[in-house]
Amino acid sequence: MMKIGILTSGGDSPGMNAAVRAVVRFGIARGMKVYGIYRGYEGLIDGELEELDRRAVGDILQRGGTMLKTARSERFMTEAGRRKAVTTIETFGLDAVVVIGGNGSFAGALELSRLGVNVMCIPGTIDNDLGYTESTIGFDTAVNTVLDAITRIRDTSSSHERTTVVEVMGRHCGDIALYAGIAGGAEAVLLPEVDRDVNSVCRKIIEGCNQGKQHSIIIKAEGYPMDSQELVKEISERTGRSVRLVVLSYLQRGGSPTLQDRMLATRCGDKAIELLDAGLTNKAIGLVDGKVLGFNLKEALAETQDFDRHLYEYVDVLSR
Ligand code: F6P
Repeated sequence: MMKIGILTSGGDSPGMNAAVRAVVRFGIARGMKVYGIYRGYEGLIDGELEELDRRAVGDILQRGGTMLKTARSERFMTEAGRRKAVTTIETFGLDAVVVIGGNGSFAGALELSRLGVNVMCIPGTIDNDLGYTESTIGFDTAVNTVLDAITRIRDTSSSHERTTVVEVMGRHCGDIALYAGIAGGAEAVLLPEVDRDVNSVCRKIIEGCNQGKQHSIIIKAEGYPMDSQELVKEISERTGRSVRLVVLSYLQRGGSPTLQDRMLATRCGDKAIELLDAGLTNKAIGLVDGKVLGFNLKEALAETQDFDRHLYEYVDVLSR
């Protein structure tokens, strides 16, 4: 009987639980034993794992966060930590480990595979920064949360005739900001991928005012290389307008996953188990052209995220 472990690692993302549930239940359906490993690679080092039955993953599908807990393990970055993790895998007789996380977690899985461990990776991060897949689990929910926030912020911005800068997450990737900017009707988006100066944003705000716009929303990705407080100060000084900053922070990491994230998580869990059952390992599961497939882990990690400049230009054209 095949024994597999499953862990969630890095920042939590909505839909991680749905992926855990899918791996456990599809795994058991194919006659596997599935062990939940707690606190990501930390739990793998410390031997914090237990067998999960079908009921153990009941009532988690709709919950944000991760029932397995998560961590950014410093110890796993060291050779000694990784060797200890391999010892746990051997002690429990695990044939493979399923890792749900972002690029740091995948890089950890690749290191494990170099030590002879069979791994299978599922993309769980709000950042959408994995180039080999069109979407990561949690991205859709995070953007919807940002959109909901913008809708509320717009009411107050409009009533007070203010400019509001909304800082969103995404690390080095501007996708959350870009998608929220387009779908939320922002006046401008500031992204790590585009070298845009503050002057052009200020011009946009002033031109909007001259045309009778009562308020403006500027979405700033956290990876844009300027401090948000500094940005607010500059815009305020240059436009003479009242400007406020809203940092959405962890609000966008939690919450019940959307249909899209639940489906993606469930399909990724199914594919991970299908591939393991077929004897395939060291894959990254991803979505391409509507299909969920397994890709070579090393190649998948090396793939850089294509920036969609055409989409980026929507924001300016649509908000004139
Ligand atoms: O990777 C998810 C993410 O929320 C990034 O968008 C952000 O840069 C980072 O995690 C924040 O990490 P922490 O959990 O350490 O606050």
